[in-house]
Amino acid sequence: MRITSGPFAWPIADDEVREALAKSYRDGSWGIYDGPEGEQLAAELCQYFGCEHALLCSSGTIGVELALRGCGVTAGDEVVLGAYDFPGNFRAVEAIGARPVLVDVSSDTWSLDAEQLAEIIRPEVKAVIVSHLHGGLVDMPAVVALARGRGWSVIEDACQQPGAQLGGRAIGSWGDVGVLSFGGSKLLTAGRGGALLTSDAQILQRVKIYCDRGNQAFPLSELQSAVLRPQLSKLRERNRIRGKRVAQILAQTTQLSPWLRPALGPANAEPAFFKLAWSYLPAESQAEMREPLLAELQAAAAPFGAGFRGFASRSGRRCEKPLPLATSVRLSQSTILLHHPVLLAQEKAAHEVTAVLDYFVRELVLSNK
Ligand SMILES: Cc1ncc(COP(=O)(O)O)c(C=O)c1O
Repeated sequence: MRITSGPFAWPIADDEVREALAKSYRDGSWGIYDGPEGEQLAAELCQYFGCEHALLCSSGTIGVELALRGCGVTAGDEVVLGAYDFPGNFRAVEAIGARPVLVDVSSDTWSLDAEQLAEIIRPEVKAVIVSHLHGGLVDMPAVVALARGRGWSVIEDACQQPGAQLGGRAIGSWGDVGVLSFGGSKLLTAGRGGALLTSDAQILQRVKIYCDRGNQAFPLSELQSAVLRPQLSKLRERNRIRGKRVAQILAQTTQLSPWLRPALGPANAEPAFFKLAWSYLPAESQAEMREPLLAELQAAAAPFGAGFRGFASRSGRRCEKPLPLATSVRLSQSTILLHHPVLLAQEKAAHEVTAVLDYFVRELVLSNK
């Protein structure tokens, strides 16, 4: 049992990207500090995300740290984030000298649980980092209302879901500041890179001052901007195709529900799929059950990997854990992720992925009986 329609390379062939690279070589803009490509990309991001300012930067990881600084978070403050999240977000809080406060994630969305967030009543909290993960989306109206009431800033990490929508509004535009990644595996890629989105002039000003070391300290180049612009113009259509494939895969895997539970966005949402997540239920109680499944899937050339390790087991010297983190613990050991390039491949690829998943889940479950 093996997938034949791969390998699923990323980025995919794109004539407009090739032309952008050729143009950059022809006109010499690959060698300049700043120019029209960066300016136009920033303007196009503002339009796409419905915000007033877009500040280009060198990665999503530094973007989250800059966003915290822009919101005025300083040493000694506390910052809330999900106990299942990208590791760099925890480090970004630490880099400032602030202290992470962990909350649990929702077992439906893999993302921060707005109900548990409401139970965090701590005067030291200055901001909350909200990451939209694996096709699940956080209940932003609830988070934003709560944060307004408590005087917290909201940093919205949209690195995994550019172009996703909630209630008709772009993910990344709900918070005080949104963060995008243009890393090599991401839906919009320049190999490296990121951006901040905000409509708050004070946040923008603070970030600019922090980044100005006589030169922009965390820049995105003209060449990177040039290859991102054609991808941004195709993002909506590509997200639509990915969403269709995900619906197809989920419909074809419903019979695996005793063993696999997929991530689901809220009803009024249009997620974007950088990863599609399932919890492999046998591994929720026995962590060692996941590895054999992943090994079989990978040997069959199916592009699956493990989820984040999460922070619940991190030392109390490094973070606060005021509430139970049971869902984060379970998902940290049970999550399997399908990587997105397969979702833009031919329909046959999605069928093959489903067949392989079905085959190995059943085989392993039966052999463990
Ligand atoms: C949720 C999330 N935030 C931030 C990042 C960091 O982005 P970058 O790789 O551009 O530093 C990632 C990267 O995978 C991510 O998944």
